[in-house]
Amino acid sequence: NNHSSDSRGALIVLEGLDRCGKTSQSSRLLQYLEGLGHAVESWRFPDRTTSVGQMISSYLANKSHLDDHTIHLLFSANRWEKRSLMESKLKSGTTLIIDRYSYSGVAFSSAKGLDMKWCKSPEMGLLAPDLVLYLDISPEKAAERGGYGEERYEQLEFQKKVAQSYKMLSDASWKIIDATLPIEDVEKQLTETVLDCVATCRKGKPLLELWL
Ligand code: TMP
Repeated sequence: NNHSSDSRGALIVLEGLDRCGKTSQSSRLLQYLEGLGHAVESWRFPDRTTSVGQMISSYLANKSHLDDHTIHLLFSANRWEKRSLMESKLKSGTTLIIDRYSYSGVAFSSAKGLDMKWCKSPEMGLLAPDLVLYLDISPEKAAERGGYGEERYEQLEFQKKVAQSYKMLSDASWKIIDATLPIEDVEKQLTETVLDCVATCRKGKPLLELWL
């Protein structure tokens, strides 16, 4: 239709364990959509460029210690500080591909033993993704990919708990993709799903808030 300039962009989130391949898939998705002429940006959380993001980054590098609840709220604050920009980008027609979001927030903190309901509450009112692409890989396989770095959460036993928490969070917006397939096959599945989602948002699918 000829109202396409009024139509909104899609909020697309990639989630998964550390080393599941999210980061390379999000740059592939960005290139793919740009190639088709879509207005698109790729973002990531934590956004380490803000002052809250710098506190998070120092915590992840084990350079500072914070209480589990405190770091949870900082991760959430780091999303809240981008919320209004996110909304205006989407409303002006830009699709956002986001590497990690509230699901990471809840999955990682509840894996430490924090109550899941408590973990979800500060995320309430953030924008709800139109699509969550979960790159599914077993913690053991992810660890074999090597390159678990020095960061705080990159340990097999902890990642096993994160995987269990993620399983409790999936809802109708989730699409679970086998992340152990060859990189091109994963990309193909992602692009098909993403194109559908972008089209639905264009046609006027309402922008909602967490939690659905
Ligand atoms: P990154 O490696 O994708 O930059 O993420 C850094 C780590 O932070 C990763 O292990 C997941 C974790 N994380 C949380 O614990 N809570 C959050 O809200 C987010 C976005 C990430």
